[in-house]
Amino acid sequence: MPAEITDKLQKIAESVGVQKMRRHIFLCCDQTKPKCSDKEKSLESWEYLKRRLKELSLSGEGGVYRTKANCLQICESGRLSRRNLVSLVHA
Ligand code: FES
Repeated sequence: MPAEITDKLQKIAESVGVQKMRRHIFLCCDQTKPKCSDKEKSLESWEYLKRRLKELSLSGEGGVYRTKANCLQICESGRLSRRNLVSLVHA
């Protein structure tokens, strides 16, 4: 990869705080074709995750990042995802 592209990507990564990232949560959310979990429930979980990380000062500089992962095709059900999510946020 050319050096100028590498430098540009490095600057972008620094600007979004990638170097401070301690955890990264990939949440099945807003699925194009929901298979395992209900789309509306996944969006509720996303909003809960956002709110809870902010309340605990874990978002951004707190080092916990989140990404909507569409569908990872590994869920048992949305309720299981929610329970795991609650456990993660309370850990
Ligand atoms: S919604 Fe499909 S793996 Fe989570």
